[in-house]
Amino acid sequence: MVESYASDISDKKLIIHFCNRYLHTYFLCISETRIHKEFYYLLKLISKKNTCFYMMFKELILARQSVRRYSETPVESEKLNQCLEAARLAPSASNSQPWSFIVVDQDPLRTEVAKATFSDIKLINKFTVQAPVMIVIVMEKAKLITRLAMMVKKKEWPLIDIGITAEHFCLQATELGLGTCMIGWFEEDKIKNLLQIPSDKSIGLLISVGYAIEGYPQRAKIRKSMEEIVRHNRY
Ligand SMILES: Cc1cc2nc3c(=O)[nH]c(=O)nc-3n(C[C@H](O)[C@H](O)[C@H](O)COP(=O)(O)O)c2cc1C
Repeated sequence: MVESYASDISDKKLIIHFCNRYLHTYFLCISETRIHKEFYYLLKLISKKNTCFYMMFKELILARQSVRRYSETPVESEKLNQCLEAARLAPSASNSQPWSFIVVDQDPLRTEVAKATFSDIKLINKFTVQAPVMIVIVMEKAKLITRLAMMVKKKEWPLIDIGITAEHFCLQATELGLGTCMIGWFEEDKIKNLLQIPSDKSIGLLISVGYAIEGYPQRAKIRKSMEEIVRHNRY
């Protein structure tokens, strides 16, 4: 019945429209009974067939969260490339694009890189060993004009650029049903050694990538209130 329901809808746009309307509810984990039953099955069917959802921007930013438990399901290289393409298109100061990406998906290298994000005494980041892919964002030299401007203005724009490209990556991953976590805590020298990164370069950020374990909860966003962060016309 489910199959025939899906095949009845020949227009892919209609499915996308359905997804956009209901996905937010789906991601907020409202119980099955409250979602139209047929639509729930349709969503499941589509996810199984690996068709990506198209989300509205608000739904996408609500759906993106740091995923810290991964299943063993490998990440499709096509999806990974889409995430890298989204990262590539990110804006940067003077369009310097001061980044390059190392995809680490081969063991034992992947495990070794993951292990460099935690130590026995520190409990954080142990989950990274579960992630089938680790992305290492290397900071590349900014354009001369950017470097000069940075000296004059005493600002570190490449770090900002790395943050933006990383978020592009993560948002695209979310749209494709993948889970990510940006990792800022890591043993830089260890990873540089493992990946043969030249000594004059530094690592900006790591991103763990993979499918969240089944039933991984969609957490509510804990954020400062608008009143706390927004001021008008003066500090
Ligand atoms: C620059 C940066 C570094 C981060 N480093 C880590 C990290 O080392 N380990 C970790 O578990 N999460 C890390 N995070 C994830 C944050 O803890 C997380 O984004 C924040 O708590 C908000 O939660 P959410 O991503 O689920 O919305 C980092 C995030 C950013 C932006």
